[in-house]
Amino acid sequence: MTLIEAIWERLRHWFEPVVYLSNNVLSMLGVLMVTAAVVLWIFLLPTLMHGETGNPYTGILTFLLLPAAFFCGLVIIPAGIWIRFRRERRRGSYPHDFPPLDFKNIKLRRLVLFVCAATLANIVIASQLSYSAVSYMDSVTFCGQTCHTVMEPEFAAYQNSPHSRVECVKCHIGPGANWFVKSKLSGLGQVVAVTFNTYDRPIPTPVENLRPARETCEACHWPQKFGADRLEVINKFADDETNTLTKTVLLMHIGGGRTSRLGIHGVHLGPGVVIRYAHSDHKRQTIPWVEYDDGKGKKTAYTSADFKPESLSGMPVRVMDCMDCHNRPTHAYELPERAVDAAMAAGTISPSLPFVKKQAVELLRKSYPSKEEALRQIPAALGEYYRSSHPSVFAARQGDIARAAGVMAAIYGRNVFPTMRVAWGAYPNNIGHTDFPGCYRCHDDAHASAAGAKISQDCNACHSLLAMEEPAPKILSDLGLAAAAAPAAK
Ligand code: HEC
Ligand code: HEC
Ligand code: HEC
Ligand code: HEC
Ligand code: HEC
Repeated sequence: MTLIEAIWERLRHWFEPVVYLSNNVLSMLGVLMVTAAVVLWIFLLPTLMHGETGNPYTGILTFLLLPAAFFCGLVIIPAGIWIRFRRERRRGSYPHDFPPLDFKNIKLRRLVLFVCAATLANIVIASQLSYSAVSYMDSVTFCGQTCHTVMEPEFAAYQNSPHSRVECVKCHIGPGANWFVKSKLSGLGQVVAVTFNTYDRPIPTPVENLRPARETCEACHWPQKFGADRLEVINKFADDETNTLTKTVLLMHIGGGRTSRLGIHGVHLGPGVVIRYAHSDHKRQTIPWVEYDDGKGKKTAYTSADFKPESLSGMPVRVMDCMDCHNRPTHAYELPERAVDAAMAAGTISPSLPFVKKQAVELLRKSYPSKEEALRQIPAALGEYYRSSHPSVFAARQGDIARAAGVMAAIYGRNVFPTMRVAWGAYPNNIGHTDFPGCYRCHDDAHASAAGAKISQDCNACHSLLAMEEPAPKILSDLGLAAAAAPAAK
């Protein structure tokens, strides 16, 4: 007898009863689970290795559910065998002798057939399912709507932004296996928080470990490209009866990305430039210390007036990137004044309705018991205002009033989310300096270096101020833009 035969002889004594006993429902279920998990895993593997697609929830499938099914299956196969063994022993029906392990053995044939059939069925199902499941989980619908209330504010603001065609995962995960896995792991925590209702309201910002912009934003925005100055016309309607319109005209010096040091982008992101800053609050709104490394060996530290050097060690320090200015590239919540101005400039709220600016902002800013109440009361209150205060307008302009009321409800709807405690201005926007500290977190004319140099607050450093709140800026008529930029008033 050779060694192999001797080993087989021993194993046979084990296998024969196992094959016999495994013929039970529980063990079969276990086999089904194990094969299903393995086959699905193999089908998900390419997307995993690629790391291209992905969001936290594919992670739940690949890192949690499938392994769980696999191990569960592994446990219940022997459990089924054990239960059957006990039962047969009790009944005294446990055989002393087992049929030999060859294909004449019907029990073995059945087992092999079952495993093959289960695997085949799983392959067919997995090949159909896993791809669509993965792409579904990467989709905007899944991110924005599956966790409906949690993400509702971000989703609503997103739909109203220049990135509304960019998938969530493009900014929140980006390419590469590394971040893919990281996001899977943090995704598990998020699901636990949602399941047990322990998440913060509103969802805190900034996102602590958002991937550096270089690897997300810059996948689309070629950093070398920016350059031209951009003309910006800001329309503002006053609180008076005629909603007097004034215009501010700015020439934004956007400047060159990573190729020149010109303009806003060039100064902060030009070749070699690294800006680091320390923030004393979680939202990065208070910045007592800034260091400018010009890439040529000169580092300058600017500090606020009340900065104490010993406090630096206790503060998080961050390298400035796109997100420090463009922190709302897509979840861009509006303030009521701005949203109403924009709607009036577009003519969807007619600027010729008396006092409409004042009324609209007041109604939007009022507090309401619930969102449903707000969406009901705001349009009703606008109608009521015109009915009681301007009956002739009310009689003649039903259509305009109804349209304005609808637009106001929409503005409220996409910016205020009481269930998530997102009120007006809950999320600061760092571009600019009028609504939030923004650029003035550093450019406040108070951050000074040891040598006395300051981070500039020169009004023409970032933009040329071509007109400020003028009814008819000359510059616009010189450029032939006066008519184009005028509101579509009737
Ligand atoms: C253009 C890039 C981009 C896209 C697309 C994008 N986000 Fe964001 N998201 C950001 C940035 C940038 C932040 C906040 C950065 C910061 O301040 O830390 C953020 C923050 C968030 C936050 C934290 C709360 C907040 O508002 O700061 C949530 C939740 C979120 N995003 C969900 C989503 C969902 C859901 C989608 C898809 C519907 C999505 N994001 C699409 C860039 C993006
Ligand atoms: C998947 C590609 C993609 C990614 C990733 C992306 N963007 Fe964009 N971004 C676009 C496109 C496309 C537009 C132009 C939209 C338009 O003009 O309609 C745009 C527009 C912009 C604008 C101009 C908005 C305006 O008002 O004109 C800014 C600023 C911007 N992106 C910043 C960012 C930042 C910051 C990030 C990273 C958080 C980012 N983008 C990530 C594709 C992308
Ligand atoms: C120091 C703040 C700051 C940083 C950092 C910054 N930007 Fe900007 N960016 C601005 C300002 C200000 C504008 C002018 C647009 C405005 O006023 O809305 C702008 C404009 C843009 C535009 C629109 C350009 C156009 O021609 O209309 C894009 C796209 C953009 N930034 C992308 C980026 C990307 C990508 C990064 C990171 C590589 C980045 N920005 C870093 C402040 C910044
Ligand atoms: C974290 C701090 C910080 C923030 C926030 C910041 N900057 Fe700066 N900025 C600096 C520093 C530091 C310098 C360089 C000072 C120097 O020359 O040494 C600078 C320089 C500039 C300059 C060149 C000024 C000059 O006199 O030539 C412009 C333009 C500028 N920033 C625009 C902006 C705009 C626009 C924003 C807001 C969207 C902004 N910055 C936000 C730190 C900041
Ligand atoms: C560090 C850069 C920087 C400096 C310094 C700066 N601004 Fe601005 N300013 C901005 C940016 C960025 C915006 C936002 C443009 C936008 O809305 O896209 C802005 C917007 C404005 C607006 C339009 C506000 C509105 O209603 O939307 C006015 C007015 C203005 N600035 C005036 C000034 C004046 C006056 C000074 C000098 C005291 C000044 N700025 C200094 C960067 C700067």
